[in-house]
Amino acid sequence: MGKIDFVEEIKKLKAEKNAVILAHYYQTADIQDVADYIGDSLGLSQQAAKTDADIIVFAGVRFMAETAKILSPKKKVVLPDMNAGCSLEESAPADKFQAFKDLHPGAVVISYVNCSAELKTLTDIVCTSTNAIKIVESVPKDQQIIFAPDKNLGGYINRVTGRNMILWDGACMVHETFSANLIKDLRKKHPKAILIAHPESEESVLEGADYIGSTTGLLKYSINNPAKEFIVATESGILHQMRKASPDKIFHIAPTAKNGHACQACSDCPHMKLNTMEKLYNCLKNESPEIILPDYILKAAKKPIDRMLEISARFGL
Ligand code: 13P
Ligand code: SF4
Repeated sequence: MGKIDFVEEIKKLKAEKNAVILAHYYQTADIQDVADYIGDSLGLSQQAAKTDADIIVFAGVRFMAETAKILSPKKKVVLPDMNAGCSLEESAPADKFQAFKDLHPGAVVISYVNCSAELKTLTDIVCTSTNAIKIVESVPKDQQIIFAPDKNLGGYINRVTGRNMILWDGACMVHETFSANLIKDLRKKHPKAILIAHPESEESVLEGADYIGSTTGLLKYSINNPAKEFIVATESGILHQMRKASPDKIFHIAPTAKNGHACQACSDCPHMKLNTMEKLYNCLKNESPEIILPDYILKAAKKPIDRMLEISARFGL
């Protein structure tokens, strides 16, 4: 058998099966180019909730595909690689989180969508990086809040809102490697470049940023800001859409370091990058691996996600 033209075959299968491909900005360029919708975590959840496709092929990581399943439980949701996890999700096992919650009775739990479906069942309101500040601000000021699982995003929200949320100790394995010192060196070489950063980055990186936002926020900012050169502190996949939208601008991914040494590959999320065109084609063809969640999780995890979508809609997000 000759080589498979994945782009053509995926398009054919999509039409035959009435399937939709939702891809996160952190996917490889070829996957983004074959997707029906490319977005950040909030945009992808909104698409999953309203699609009339029979099958949702989620080109992203498992917690995202689970969120799609929770929002559209009657649809078949497939993920190219079931091993596509997330360091934030791993940092917060539900049993340990329940014990932590028990230490703070009466606290409202706000969880970043980057967590397991089970953790969402222990949550009052889910948030994404796009709506996190609005969601936190929707809770009365004197109400204690537990924020899980990202301490960097939680710390950033505390600084912006003046709250003192109790933070779970989790971090994104990609964003925590951006190096404030190496970024400073790069800025010396490119003095006109603007630094834009995702709030999953550490405080030392965010401190120097000209703009902080979700992946969609960063993309829009790079389009609307007249600057011609940007240093981007988020996963490398986003550069594809930035370069497509602004071919006349220069984009550098922010430098990363691990154990004190510069690290070239650290801005690639090893989970996001598990997906390939071949796996995408196979999962569409075989309708597998499929996201299956127990009924009680589907029901209990939907409530905090619905609350997030309601609050987001109130603010036009
Ligand atoms: P957003 O999609 O909300 O920008 O979050 C980025 C991320 O890390 C997803 O895994
Ligand atoms: Fe998780 Fe970070 Fe990868 Fe996003 S980039 S999936 S937060 S490990």
